[in-house]
Amino acid sequence: MAAQSNSLQSIRYKRGSLELLDQRRLPLETVYLEIHAATDGWEAIKDMVVRGAPAIAIAAALSLAVEVSTLDSFNGSPNDAASFLSKKLDYLVSSRPTAVNLSDAATKLKEISLTAASSASETKVVFQAYIEAAEIMLEDDVASNKAIGSYGASFIVQHLKESKKVSVLTHCNTGSLATAGYGTALGVIRSLHADGLLETAYCTETRPFNQGSRLTAFELVHDKIPATLIADSAAAALMNAGRINAVIVGADRVAANGDTANKIGTYSLALVAKHHNIPLYVAAPLTSIDLLLTSGQDIVIEERSSKELLNSRGGLGEQVAASGISVWNPAFDVTPANLISGVITEKGVITKSKPDAFDIKGFVEKISGVP
Ligand code: MRU
Repeated sequence: MAAQSNSLQSIRYKRGSLELLDQRRLPLETVYLEIHAATDGWEAIKDMVVRGAPAIAIAAALSLAVEVSTLDSFNGSPNDAASFLSKKLDYLVSSRPTAVNLSDAATKLKEISLTAASSASETKVVFQAYIEAAEIMLEDDVASNKAIGSYGASFIVQHLKESKKVSVLTHCNTGSLATAGYGTALGVIRSLHADGLLETAYCTETRPFNQGSRLTAFELVHDKIPATLIADSAAAALMNAGRINAVIVGADRVAANGDTANKIGTYSLALVAKHHNIPLYVAAPLTSIDLLLTSGQDIVIEERSSKELLNSRGGLGEQVAASGISVWNPAFDVTPANLISGVITEKGVITKSKPDAFDIKGFVEKISGVP
C-alpha cells in the first residue's frame, strides 16, 4: 500500500501493526499506543485515545485487521470467518454511537467479507479481503480530505467575494488527528492557507474535552498556520467585532435534510453566526452522510462521563468543580439545516436548491451516477 503522509499522524499502520497517537496526552506528550486487537481498538475509541468521526472508523477497521492478520489459526468455514468479522464489527460500532462513519465502515466491511466468503474455499481469503478493504479506507481518507479542502477553499473565496484574505472560526478538532491525515474543516483551512487566502484561523477551546485548545491549536502551530485561540464563550463577541468571514465545522452525522450532529457547541455557534449574517459551512466526507435519517431528530447523542466537567483537562486532571453537583454532558448537538449555508464534500459543495432546503439525496445520486 502507498505510504502515509508525513504530517501529524493519529494512526500509524503497516500490515500486522497498528499504533494510535494517544490524543489524551497531547499537546504535552507524543505517545503512541500499540493496538493488537478489536478489544484494544474499542477501548481506545471509548477512552478518546483516538477521536474524530473518520479516525474512529478507520482505527476500528484496522484494529480488527491487525487481529486477523496475526491470527495463528481459525477453526471454521469461510462463512464462519465472515460471521466472526461481523460480530467483531458490531462490537466496535458499540464504542461510540453518534458518528455514522463507524457504522458505515462496518456495513461496507461486512458486505466485503460476505462476498469474499461466498466464493472462497479457505478462511484466509476472507480475512485477506477484509484486511485489504480496511487498508483502502485508510488510503482513501487522505485523498478525500484533500478534495474537501480544495473544494471548500475555492467555494468560500468565491462565495464571500472577498478581495482580501479571509478569517474563519472552527470548533473542535477536524484535522490530521481526527482523520487519516489533512482533515475536513481543518483541511479547508489548510487549503485556504496554502493558497495564500487565509488571514487568521480562530479556534475555540471546545469545552469540556478541549479538542480545540489541545489538538487544533497544536496542529495549527505545528503547521505554522496563522491562528488565534478563543474561549467558547468569546465566539459571539468575535463575530460581533466583525473579525470572521465564515464558520467551518466538521460533522459526525449529516441527515438527509442537512441537519448535522457535531461537537457540542456547534449549534450555539450556528445560531450566533445566523444572527451576524455569517455563513456556517459543514465540511465532511460522504461517509458522514446518513440518508436513512430524514432529519437530525433521530440522531443518537452520546452522553459522556460527568468527570469531563468535574475535573480539569476534560476529566484527565484534578477535580475543579464543586463536589455533589449533578452534570449533563452531551458530547454532540444537532444544528438544523436552516442554519447551515453549505455542506462541503470530496465531490463538491452541496448548497440549497430552494430556500432552506438541501437535496442531499439528489446530490449523492448524481455523483454516484444514479439516473
Ligand atoms: O468527541 P470527538 O472529539 O470525537 O468529536 C469530534 C467532532 O465532533 C468532529 O467535529 C467530527 O467528528 C468531525 S472530525 C473530522
